[in-house]
Amino acid sequence: MNYRKLDDFPEDFLWGSASAAYQVEGASDEDGKGVSVWDAYTKLEGKTFEGTNGDIAVDHYHRFKEDVALMAQMGLKAYRFSIAWTRILPDGKGDVNQAGLRFYHQLIDELIANDIEPIITIYHWDLPQALYDEYRGWESRQIIDDFTNYAMILFEAYSSKVKYWVSVNEQNVFVMNGYLSALHPPGEKNPALGLRVNHIVNLANASVIKAFKAKGYPGKIGPSFAYSPSYAADSNPLSVIANEDFSALTADFWMDVYARGTYPKTVIKQLAKFGLDIGMEAGDELLLKQGIADFMGVNYYQSTTVSTMGLEEKIERKPANFNGKKGTAGGMGIPGIFKTIPNDFLEKTNWDWTIDPEGLHIGLRRIDSRYDLPLLITENGLGEFDVLEDDGSIHDVYRIDYLRQHIHAVQEAITDGVKVLGYCTWSFTDLLSWLNGYKKRYGFVYVDRDDHRLNSLKRFKKDSYYWYQNVIKTNGRDL
Ligand code: BG6
Repeated sequence: MNYRKLDDFPEDFLWGSASAAYQVEGASDEDGKGVSVWDAYTKLEGKTFEGTNGDIAVDHYHRFKEDVALMAQMGLKAYRFSIAWTRILPDGKGDVNQAGLRFYHQLIDELIANDIEPIITIYHWDLPQALYDEYRGWESRQIIDDFTNYAMILFEAYSSKVKYWVSVNEQNVFVMNGYLSALHPPGEKNPALGLRVNHIVNLANASVIKAFKAKGYPGKIGPSFAYSPSYAADSNPLSVIANEDFSALTADFWMDVYARGTYPKTVIKQLAKFGLDIGMEAGDELLLKQGIADFMGVNYYQSTTVSTMGLEEKIERKPANFNGKKGTAGGMGIPGIFKTIPNDFLEKTNWDWTIDPEGLHIGLRRIDSRYDLPLLITENGLGEFDVLEDDGSIHDVYRIDYLRQHIHAVQEAITDGVKVLGYCTWSFTDLLSWLNGYKKRYGFVYVDRDDHRLNSLKRFKKDSYYWYQNVIKTNGRDL
């Protein structure tokens, strides 16, 4: 639709920003914290960009008051952060580490004192290593109870102060990278195992949501999903069906479970043809239905364009782009089903991520019409090289352009009638990008460190900081 005038953002719109524990906190072995799989994985040769890790990260653990003060000065309405499971339960289960609980109490209190709504992510990939060592983590159904127990500890501790809970961050990314591409821990290339793991994560997610509702905690809970809305390459019906398949395999396969408690039947049938099954057992269907999300968290960075792929066709394999050299990333495909192709209408970032604000509008519309759930944009942002000038300024006009266009797309979706609770940029401060080190910066606040040198770790406000401050002040009227 083309509008002469867009609707205003709702008065209670959550203008937010987001982070994750491993990417910002540091203090990786302080105050009783246990070892996570990411603590261990980043120490293995050749796994992350030049061996970068989150041991110190941007030292948010020690500087959270300074960081929250910067959020408060900006006028931020919501801050989404994750809790490190290993701070609360160093071995993933057993005795609670009171120092860990205390840290997040302090952070939450500091946010609330500054009128910033805390949004807690329960799991953002940093699985306790002890649970992997004991029963291989997400590969075993034992994790369903352990994850639920961990979440219940958080609900008991914080639910009087916290209204929004993100149960699991980007299940599609951590399962696919952990079990298909071997880029994340545990570094497997085993699709059959990955599918069973994925089903177990679904059960654990549903179990946590069910427990949250059964106890009647106030507030809302839902997962955040890495959504890349897709387009058919052209109006050739074969491209269109390839796009249907892509969408079913990469989006509906997860979001149907979160929103409806069922898997899309076309995907289950296609998987069976490859001899794959998800490992459904008696009682699972009921649990999935009992764990329906209150909202869909949407992490949006880019769209995808797909065309048909012949059964015998081969795709040129290229490594992913982790160094920011534009044009080095390859595509992907499944013979007989689809392949991804470049979209000539769209620019890309230096990391070859397609820039497509309208894709966010389209994505929000599609989720709304398929599931009719409120949506919370839990991540959206631009990873780029930034330059700290001698006078301490950072002129990230490209980030302002990116965010402005994406917020405009959100406003279009709201004008269409989509219920959007809020919008969290990724990220507030610069932070560790899991596989791209520290040079791929996302923040409104520059942190003086690079991949190998800690430097001062001082914070500097980028131009985008002041811009977003004004967006919030005008409730999005002045983009
Ligand atoms: C999402 C994650 O996948 O995208 C974040 O939830 C991540 O943790 C963000 O940092 C950006 O990805 P990347 O690879 O650029 O760090």
